[in-house]
Amino acid sequence: MVLTWDSTIRNELEMVEQEMRDRVFSEQSILTEISLYVIGSGGKRIRPAIALLSFRSNGGEDPNKVIKIASAFEMIHAATLIHDDINDNGEFRRGREAAYKHYGTQRALIAGDFLFVKSFKLGGIFNEVIVDMIADACTSIAESEMLQILHEMETDTTISDYIKIIEGKTAKFMEAGAKIGAYLAGSDAKRIEEMGAYGLNIGMAFQIMDDILDIVGNQASLGKPRGVDYMDGKPNLVLLYAMADETYGKEISRSFLKKDKTQEDLGTVLALVAKTDAVEKAKALARTYTADAKENIASLNDSDYKASMAILADTLVDRST
Ligand code: IPE
Ligand code: IPE
Ligand code: MG
Ligand code: MG
Repeated sequence: MVLTWDSTIRNELEMVEQEMRDRVFSEQSILTEISLYVIGSGGKRIRPAIALLSFRSNGGEDPNKVIKIASAFEMIHAATLIHDDINDNGEFRRGREAAYKHYGTQRALIAGDFLFVKSFKLGGIFNEVIVDMIADACTSIAESEMLQILHEMETDTTISDYIKIIEGKTAKFMEAGAKIGAYLAGSDAKRIEEMGAYGLNIGMAFQIMDDILDIVGNQASLGKPRGVDYMDGKPNLVLLYAMADETYGKEISRSFLKKDKTQEDLGTVLALVAKTDAVEKAKALARTYTADAKENIASLNDSDYKASMAILADTLVDRST
């Protein structure tokens, strides 16, 4: 068997799928329908994978201990995606119309809340330590999504503002998954922190790569459109680097600040960004996080699970989906 980031946890991931399908049942069948529309449309399942791999690589044996919490992570992720697409005017998700486009904003908002609450019910069966970790990570998502709105259309957003935003909206959630996996495996505090650092670092690399794919990705493989960040005035890392370019930066900034951007504007700006080294610079930063993540797992005993975690770290910066 060729080792990939998910080959060691296929059975567990299948259990997660079943758990999620069971959990989204509601007497209001439309809530179940919208939940399944999102959950059933694919997605890489990175967040449950992080919890599962951290559990296994730390010697966790009974997968039943971790399936529910891994499922909660993916359901929270699904909820944030539903709400995020409303916020970002993202029209496609996982190759389908975004839920709010398909079902209307009112229904999609409620379905997002429904998924959040169902996830917390799953998380709530564990002890306070775990509930706290998930609640703190979700609080960070809300705070950073708000911070991101405050930086919309701001060309003077700094790299450190940007780092703070992506840490809160994406990386801390992955940190929590990795910590909880290790905690449930019975690891000591030092190891739990190391696993958390791994989750945080791959989360940073992952979100930087998402920003790169927003600029140079392919809609068919990504399942979501390109250029959403530019159209929305969200200064992602590639745009920040591009706007600082000596030759093309001013023109890119002017275009970024336009109010009613067209697809033609997007085409022009993407061509300009391609003339800068912004994508390479962003990739280089992502790779520093990946390298740190691999150091964070160095103290684990060797196993296929540990190897999968290293592969996952690499895959996240070398992906097109
Ligand atoms: C998209 O997450 C949202 C971000 C935090 C960038 P993923 O790229 O993990 O989305 P799916 O779950 O695979 O669809
Ligand atoms: C999403 O970030 C972060 C969340 C916590 C939902 P993005 O807005 O960049 O994600 P995509 O590009 O829409 O998937
Ligand atoms: Mg978005
Ligand atoms: Mg994005």
